[in-house]
Amino acid sequence: MVSRLWLNVCVVGGLLAVACSGPQSALNPAGEDATEIATLFWWMSGGAALIWLLMMALTFYSVFGPRLAQAHRVGHWLIVGGGVVLPVVVLVPLLAIGLAPLSRAGAHRSDGAITIDVSGEQWWWRVRYHTPAQRAVDVANEIRLPVGVRVDLRLTSDNVIHAFWIPSLAGKIDMIPGRTTELSLRPTRVGRFRGVCAEYCGTAHALMAFDVEVLGRDEFDRWLDRQAAPAAEPVEVSERRGRERFDANGCGACHSIRGTSSRGGVGPDLTHVGGRFSLAAGTQPNSREALASFIAHAGAHKPGAEMPSFAMLPAEEIADMAAYLRGLE
Ligand code: CUA
Repeated sequence: MVSRLWLNVCVVGGLLAVACSGPQSALNPAGEDATEIATLFWWMSGGAALIWLLMMALTFYSVFGPRLAQAHRVGHWLIVGGGVVLPVVVLVPLLAIGLAPLSRAGAHRSDGAITIDVSGEQWWWRVRYHTPAQRAVDVANEIRLPVGVRVDLRLTSDNVIHAFWIPSLAGKIDMIPGRTTELSLRPTRVGRFRGVCAEYCGTAHALMAFDVEVLGRDEFDRWLDRQAAPAAEPVEVSERRGRERFDANGCGACHSIRGTSSRGGVGPDLTHVGGRFSLAAGTQPNSREALASFIAHAGAHKPGAEMPSFAMLPAEEIADMAAYLRGLE
């Protein structure tokens, strides 16, 4: 009996410990703002634990303590102490600790050097960088940030409410149609992280994630320069065939590939899709096979997506298009 209890404690404790790490953990912060939130969490948890322990102690005392504890006069002091003094002593400091990060969050200001517009789509992320060197660079489903630099994000949506959340870096904030909400964040260490949509927004809500990478400043600048450049020319024969099929099937009506005639703005920008960490908003590996499967069965991979499935095309044609897109690094 006792050993089974310990087994359960170990399993639950292990799961909790695992939940505290990884690329998507608010308790393993990699940003100034996430660190404040994690600190607040531990203070609040400590306060809650303290109150719980005191209440349990009082409960045991009242049940098993001397009869005197149940006398009217002692009851009076328990109410004053446990009902007035204790909550004031515990809750007032917790309130102060809770309000402090809120006021600091409003005071966080960047120098405005890097602004990123992010729009919640159904169900992916439209991302546009603005820097003094690069006026507007379109990316999708991926955000890379320079370490140690405060960056402003302007968030919006033209469909339903989504919520933008990179747990390792900062708090979450809603993306509201017809409005622009703002989030400022400052990563404190390099690494790969994961962002998610944190508000139920429809059929593929759970398939709406994105990759985040925090880089050294120089590496970030080089990455952004590469993203700003037009798409690479196809090299292999299959890639060249793929580009022809991409154009012939009208994919450019929805997708943009800078440097080509594809200028569509409905779906994600594909100029450098081959260099991204993943496909389909953080849900598929970035490989030729996954690209081909998504082209053929978009609706199966992302139910409700606006992209039609192209399973009626010959498999070789789809494979060529996948080769072309994978080559766009
Ligand atoms: Cu977008 Cu949930």
